[in-house]
Amino acid sequence: MLEVRNLKKYFPVQKSAIEVFFSKKKEFIKAVDDVSFEIRKGEVLSLVGESGCGKTTTGRILVGLETPSDGKILFKGKDVTTLSKEEYRALRKNIQMVFQDPYASLNPRMKIGEHLEDPLIVHGVAEGDEAKEMAMKMLDRVGLPAEQFYNRMPYQLSGGQRQRVAIARAMILKPDFVVADEPVSMIDVSLRASILNLLMSFKDEYSLSMLFITHDLSVARLVGDRIAVMYLGKIVEIGDTREVIHYPKHPYTAALLSSVPSFVRREQRVEIIGDIANPIDVPSGCRYHTRCPFAKQKCREEEPEMQGNGHKFACHYPLDIAF
Ligand SMILES: Nc1ncnc2c1ncn2[C@@H]1O[C@H](COP(=O)(O)OP(=O)(O)OP(=O)(O)O)[C@@H](O)[C@H]1O
Ligand code: SF4
Ligand SMILES: [Mg+2]
Repeated sequence: MLEVRNLKKYFPVQKSAIEVFFSKKKEFIKAVDDVSFEIRKGEVLSLVGESGCGKTTTGRILVGLETPSDGKILFKGKDVTTLSKEEYRALRKNIQMVFQDPYASLNPRMKIGEHLEDPLIVHGVAEGDEAKEMAMKMLDRVGLPAEQFYNRMPYQLSGGQRQRVAIARAMILKPDFVVADEPVSMIDVSLRASILNLLMSFKDEYSLSMLFITHDLSVARLVGDRIAVMYLGKIVEIGDTREVIHYPKHPYTAALLSSVPSFVRREQRVEIIGDIANPIDVPSGCRYHTRCPFAKQKCREEEPEMQGNGHKFACHYPLDIAF
């Protein structure tokens, strides 16, 4: 369904006039730095990693909210970075995003029902009574009875209900591919499971492919067929969920798993040193070497290449452990 090749996004660092005058070269935040992966039809890939590692930027590029600095995105084999405006508009209907913040993702002046009719009208799928009927059906489908919710305004809804509307709006066009960016992280803990179940029910109904962004490995384990682990703009490990969770090869994956007490026994835990490095001044060689307890001279000098088949990892000294 989706193939991402050598994707990069560098943001220029904003500087004052004095800083520009004295600095020799332009500096960039390397938010996404040569990322490749694929997502098959009906598959969920969880993208995990610490805050600031580039998850949201990757997702925003895939739905066209950000232009890549370099790389290719093939959607059903077509390179979306070279499409004409019309071709891109037709494609956009098949690619949707569910955002993290349910309060920011709805228009405060639009009725709930109108939020669902709007994409149908914009993409020429339906209008008038037909669009209204489809919107009401979808509201019922996501657990918000249409007679009660169609005419309500966003401020009259709870966070969980708003996220149901956001999911309904993304799903009403029956997309092939959805990016869900931390869709439950701002929602009350007691409601998270039901929202996740709702999202996953569409996966089965539509054979949906999904990039599911989360920093919560328990959630990633629950929803993802595969997991990709990102560190400082790069994917350092990717593979089937079971493989990555039970037999991590990269020390960073092992450290993230070690932070979940129910995943790893105390005596098996792998530590992580200090804080995430600066994405403007990326460490030499393996960019994780400043935090890796296993780092050796080679790690500081040579960037490790992705190795492995199916379960892939980028490390000179991969782990041989079972969690
Ligand atoms: N529009 C922008 N301009 C400049 N820098 C940006 C922009 N968007 C993101 N960044 C930077 O790019 C890096 C990656 O950010 P991103 O939001 O993709 O991370 P994330 O993994 O989603 O983090 P979080 O878990 O906190 O949501 C960060 O250093 C961030 O400050
Ligand atoms: S390449 Fe070296 S520094 Fe990087 S993760 Fe592997 S052991 Fe650690
Ligand atoms: Mg984010």
